[in-house]
Amino acid sequence: MHRTMHTVLVASNRGPVSFTPSADGGLTMRRGGGGLVSGLSQLGDDDPPLWICAALTDGDRGAARAAPGGRLDLAGHPTGPLRMLDIPPATFHRAYNDVANSTLWFVHHLLYDTPNTPSFGARFRREWESYQDYNAMFAAALAEEAAHGARVLVQDYHLTLTPAMLRALRPDLRVAHFSHTPWAPPEYFTLLPDDVACEVLAGILGADHAGFLTARWANAFMDCCEAVLGADVDRVARTVRHEGRTTRIGVHPLGVDGGALLARAGEPDVEARLHAIREAVGDRRLIVRVDRTEPSKNIVRGLLAYREFLHDHPEWHGRVVHLAFAYPSRHDLPEYREYTAAVMRCAKQIEDEYATEDWEPIILDVHDDYPRSLAAYRLADVLLVNPIRDGMNLVAKEGPILSPRCVLVLSREAGAAAELGPDAIMVNPYDVSGTAAALHEALAMPEDERLKRGRRLAAAATALPPRQWLAEQLAALA
Ligand code: G6P
Repeated sequence: MHRTMHTVLVASNRGPVSFTPSADGGLTMRRGGGGLVSGLSQLGDDDPPLWICAALTDGDRGAARAAPGGRLDLAGHPTGPLRMLDIPPATFHRAYNDVANSTLWFVHHLLYDTPNTPSFGARFRREWESYQDYNAMFAAALAEEAAHGARVLVQDYHLTLTPAMLRALRPDLRVAHFSHTPWAPPEYFTLLPDDVACEVLAGILGADHAGFLTARWANAFMDCCEAVLGADVDRVARTVRHEGRTTRIGVHPLGVDGGALLARAGEPDVEARLHAIREAVGDRRLIVRVDRTEPSKNIVRGLLAYREFLHDHPEWHGRVVHLAFAYPSRHDLPEYREYTAAVMRCAKQIEDEYATEDWEPIILDVHDDYPRSLAAYRLADVLLVNPIRDGMNLVAKEGPILSPRCVLVLSREAGAAAELGPDAIMVNPYDVSGTAAALHEALAMPEDERLKRGRRLAAAATALPPRQWLAEQLAALA
């Protein structure tokens, strides 16, 4: 049978859609979440790329098995053709949960702390083999689908080995890797076993172009290549030479498609939720946050800061509400389940200490409701984005687009700080008292100052929309 060979391909763990079994025995399709999917979901063009992703759920595996060769026809979906890899569940679990999310994610976000420090023993070695197998399955699928000389965009920390594996299979391809996370400095990265650290770096260097969201993460990657591999690094030209090959390093700060976001936020389901929030909150000021429930997002310290702010500023009692969205994420991992419980305990404590008969100081939303979060952005007086470390953070960019008078309180450790810093109130994410003071400063900011900063924030947030960001990745492979 004749099969289309693709000239542009994208590979990522999470795909643009996911499937859940529906009541009628069929499958319901949902949009995937996270910064990577937001960035890549606008691939649609006259000749859309083939997107290869992993089947993440039983629903996905069902959909992948029902489709010939795992190739799904997403008629009418803007992202174009999709191939879902039906990876054996145990291999997937070890690669995704144990290595990608429990190890590499923790390393890049500096999340290990005493007594939660890693031990890399026999169990990790099994997990690492699964990570290698999982990366090899992506490389094999890409090699099978790519036309001669095709351009391949490999995404993120799940797939660090795929570029080198793919190069070995198909030296004719032009390959890019893009990291959507921060990159750890060498002194932290080298807590990985030496062979693993080398393999991760050499895996990415199998690409012609390695992209990062900020200069800070790109520099950290180059520092690691030099310190761990002894590679030849040119920081000015942004190149890394290793084993006779040169990889170009690029900095591409992903932004938001402002027009599309504004249009989505004006739809009736958002309007309905906006009225519901207004009804609940009345004319009180609103501090909003929107996150996956994720230790790196630092939700607990954000709540502690709000609590300290209420303690220090009784004049705000009854006049402000904190609407915190903390959506479920990665619940297969005990650290995430424990973190979710800690977030809920902290919110309950604020409630117990400060709530009165006619004032609810905090509303914690733990169910994923995208239109409700858009409504909250529109109503926000203050947006709190305080991650311990974050590759970019698109919430910080979406908020100012939807609420021009909203003051952004932003962690200096978010990638977005490089572009938004001058017009946000910057905080050290570990400094709870400093964050409490920033919340007060934000609430008290005069209207003209809010609008002036808000306009500049929105302009910076839309400077490199996904379509252009993607075009840059492809141009880098020209
Ligand atoms: C971050 C990563 C993405 C990932 C997302 C959601 O944004 O960079 O690659 O998709 O988190 O995480 P999840 O594990 O749910 O895919």
